[in-house]
Amino acid sequence: MKLAATLASRLERLARRAAKTSYSPYSKFAVGAAVLAGSGKIYTGCNVENASYGLCNCAERTAIFSAVAAGERKIKCVVVYTPTTSATPPCGACRQVINEFGPQARVISVCDSKERIETSLDALLPAAFGPGNLG
Ligand code: THU
Repeated sequence: MKLAATLASRLERLARRAAKTSYSPYSKFAVGAAVLAGSGKIYTGCNVENASYGLCNCAERTAIFSAVAAGERKIKCVVVYTPTTSATPPCGACRQVINEFGPQARVISVCDSKERIETSLDALLPAAFGPGNLG
């Protein structure tokens, strides 16, 4: 599903804004995300790091978990902003979490340059393991 340009630019603006509340004292890599949920509402998130590095949570997962905590069960689109000159796709853990709620989701990456990646979760995580594999 291709998003309307106005909706995509709104998600992009919100993802950029969400990076401003990033808690990333270790990596100093402030990431923001905005997700469009099944209800049509938008949820945002930032990366939240921890002194125990392995517990760092990515911006995409923060946004998705906020959506789910608000009662959403479907994710239609994920936009992630990274403070880089090249657009970067979500990490493997975030791909798996997106798959749980949005196997058909659009995934858009934006950054500090005009570069952007617009793709689908299916392209990023083909043959994914998901709820249907639990029998
Ligand atoms: N990070 C995200 O929040 N999203 C991504 O797509 C890539 C990485 C965060 C995790 C960590 O806090 C920091 O960026 C460096 O990896």
